[in-house]
Amino acid sequence: MSLTLDKMDLPPRPKLFDFHGVSMSHYFTDNWDKVQSFQARPDDILIATYPKAGTTWVSYILDLLYFGQTYSERQTSIPIHERVPFLEIDIPTEYTGTDLAEKLPTSPRLIKTHLPVQFVPKSFWEQNCRIVYVARNAKDNAVSYFHFDRMNKVQPEAGDWSSFLQRFMEGKMVFGPWYDHVTGWWEKKQTHSKIHYMFYEDLIEDTGREIDSLCSFLGLSPSAEEKERVRGGVQFDNMKKDNMANYSTVGVMDFKISPFMRKGKVGDWKNHFTVAQSEQFDEDYKNKMKNPMQQFRTEV
Ligand code: A3P
Repeated sequence: MSLTLDKMDLPPRPKLFDFHGVSMSHYFTDNWDKVQSFQARPDDILIATYPKAGTTWVSYILDLLYFGQTYSERQTSIPIHERVPFLEIDIPTEYTGTDLAEKLPTSPRLIKTHLPVQFVPKSFWEQNCRIVYVARNAKDNAVSYFHFDRMNKVQPEAGDWSSFLQRFMEGKMVFGPWYDHVTGWWEKKQTHSKIHYMFYEDLIEDTGREIDSLCSFLGLSPSAEEKERVRGGVQFDNMKKDNMANYSTVGVMDFKISPFMRKGKVGDWKNHFTVAQSEQFDEDYKNKMKNPMQQFRTEV
């Protein structure tokens, strides 16, 4: 299955609205009752992120760690968004995350979400599922989100960079403010041992080390050879040319505007922020991010 909405008349870009205090678009709230009553299993693994923090990268790592050897045709025939369904998405006639997740034949099931922590369906907590949270520094996250909203026709219009950045600071993004998302999950991790909180910048710096620490969280012990195979397979250039990983099967995305696998770097924000924007952003950031323990790197 691929997202073929481009072959139909595309509906207009969705509008943001306030949903229990968080900006959302209808594509992620239309199926709310089914999302909230989703029945997690104890071995499900939830991959949680703010959009554009490296979700696909970590999904791919987990998919290869669990299924890379046993189901090799999976890698060549099933796109990543079907192997790791997006729980709350609901694009009529095309793609409903809960249905795909329920039909997953794998064990464990790998499931992706962008929900802020307070919206996670309660069965994931009741079943004490493992959760991998990936966070990315706010500046690169904002840039990546800007290009994504430009090219993804089921996202709200991006507008120009400067108005997008203002909205990012105001939290008027699908899935709400970056600041609340990364902080909410960080706080949850303090009392919940089954959350592995990782950073995009660490993955860039040393993918092998981060795979090791993921394995120890997941209780996996792949051979050195297998780990090396995973590390190599998930490098940016490999994923970019892999049609099962690069979202090229997804019709609602216009790669002529910007590809999904865009740059894959830390520090691309420097090519977007003016000095004045950066100063204003930093000032605002200090007021919102008060916990000295929660440090992000904007360069590596
Ligand atoms: P950029 O837009 O900065 O290039 P998500 O999967 O959460 O939507 O995140 C997408 C971002 O992760 C994009 O960032 C994409 O290029 C980057 N990404 C995906 N796979 C990657 C990889 N293997 N290495 C580095 N970055 C990767």
